[in-house]
Amino acid sequence: MKSFDVVVIGAGPAGYIAAIRAAQLGLSVACIEKWKTPKGDFALGGTCLNVGCIPSKALLESSENYERVLHNFKAHGITASGVKFDLKTMLERKDRIVGKMTSGIAGLFKKNKVTWLQGHGKLLSGGTTWKIQAGEEQVEAKNIIIATGSKARHLPGIPVDNKLICDNEGALAFESVPQRLGVIGAGVIGLELGSVWRRLGSTVRVLEALPTFLGAADEAVAQEAWKIFTKGQALDIELGVKIGAVSEMRKVLSIQYNGQDGSSKTFDCDRLIISVGRVPNTEDLGAENIGLKLDPKGFIEVDKNCRTALPRVYAVGDVVRGPMLAHKGEDEGVMVAEIIAGHHGHVNYDAIPWVIYTAPEIAWVGKTEQQLKAEGIAYRTGRFPFAYNGRALGREEPEGFVKILADARTDRILGVHAIGSLASELIAEAVVAMEFGASSEDIARICHAHPSMSEVMREAALAVDKRSLNG
Ligand code: FAD
Ligand code: NAI
Repeated sequence: MKSFDVVVIGAGPAGYIAAIRAAQLGLSVACIEKWKTPKGDFALGGTCLNVGCIPSKALLESSENYERVLHNFKAHGITASGVKFDLKTMLERKDRIVGKMTSGIAGLFKKNKVTWLQGHGKLLSGGTTWKIQAGEEQVEAKNIIIATGSKARHLPGIPVDNKLICDNEGALAFESVPQRLGVIGAGVIGLELGSVWRRLGSTVRVLEALPTFLGAADEAVAQEAWKIFTKGQALDIELGVKIGAVSEMRKVLSIQYNGQDGSSKTFDCDRLIISVGRVPNTEDLGAENIGLKLDPKGFIEVDKNCRTALPRVYAVGDVVRGPMLAHKGEDEGVMVAEIIAGHHGHVNYDAIPWVIYTAPEIAWVGKTEQQLKAEGIAYRTGRFPFAYNGRALGREEPEGFVKILADARTDRILGVHAIGSLASELIAEAVVAMEFGASSEDIARICHAHPSMSEVMREAALAVDKRSLNG
């Protein structure tokens, strides 16, 4: 039986990064992965690379380019007639990017001497070493890192076939643009993928159970996003609904639901995306064989260092508590690999950025204003709009703002919230600032290139002290 210092189960961003970091630190490492492509080949990269972050961003970019040519270029004096798109080419481009990225990980495994064991991983028994089923073979490990990720949550009575009723997997591969698209859940996937298909021509209705929109975001950002998406972009979002039955007749889906006022409503559509959150992959993992504890929702219970209650068994990424984000999983993977190798590992959960890749983008790090109020923390606010920024105007992207929340007494930055073009890139400055315990004055005194979108970050920092220079 092959024996390793570390066996990682799952090769998504949490698992493959853990495997590479452990190998870099001189440990013998194997990673078990069961993912198969639609063609039936084993593939690395997990949800993120195969059916998540990477393919969704490829389609977002393509659909944004189409919309830019159709609508946004006019202001520059550029008009184009007969503009068309070829969905097949768009999807093939997306698949090519996915293929490049996933085969890139196979290359990284080779380079770092990580053994890739293909097939399902199952915990068998424990002792001084752990025994694990890996596809057809059994292997032994001194340490285990479980990184089995998550899958889409489905709704009872609404069977997903990934043809007409889709989760993220089907919604990234429609072979034609649906005329009418229904989306259940106005979370990150609903907004991102709803936007893709709206830009390509679908009429989109998004049905959300909660009465508030984007409750995790800062309220001011959520309000601005609501205005832009529902008025500017005609994304039809209904809040506070209760979904009833979904029926199908001759390829037309009929969604019955109750509106916020309790009235009974119907929306007919050609495709439906179910995006109501994700659940951890812990079934058939053999947790019971070794006494590994799961919480009532199926997540593996871990401490702040991703240790389970069992010796030398760790779990990272979507399968444990915390935001289901690729970079959060990656950082946990690095932390655990370093701890196993005898180093000090750490993740700062207070400085994990969030990005929603709509247009404009939404990004934040740290506390929202409503959280600070609820926690009774005294704070000062600085806010600056992109509309006053020369680069934003040059890019014809003046929507949105940056908002900085700083401690009223110490001026330490507690949260940064942005809605606007390139917010995903701008937020990195705020993350660095928070990691280094910066004050808003620190950002205000740092030289920012002119003209650049990043000047809005500096002006927002100046605004905390009511001394913006350009607004
Ligand atoms: P996963 O990526 O889910 O990987 C787990 C892997 O484990 C899978 O490959 C699975 O096959 C394998 N596995 C499971 N059980 C076993 C077993 N028993 N044996 C062997 N292998 C097993 N996050 C972001 O940060 N940014 C984004 O832009 C973003 N966009 C997203 C878009 C979509 C449409 C979706 C669905 C998600 C998106 N996410 C994004 C979330 C991100 O994909 C996840 O947070 C991330 O993939 C989690 O990484 P992970 O390694 O924990 O799990
Ligand atoms: P989500 O948690 O972001 O949103 C789900 C939404 O569905 C919520 O607003 C919820 O209230 C609503 N909902 C739940 N049950 C419902 C019901 N029965 N009827 C109507 N609405 C209902 O989950 P989503 O969009 O599925 O994405 C899953 C996760 O994947 C995200 O939370 C995020 O962690 C990750 N992700 C991250 C992205 C990014 O970083 N840009 C992009 C896409 C996904």
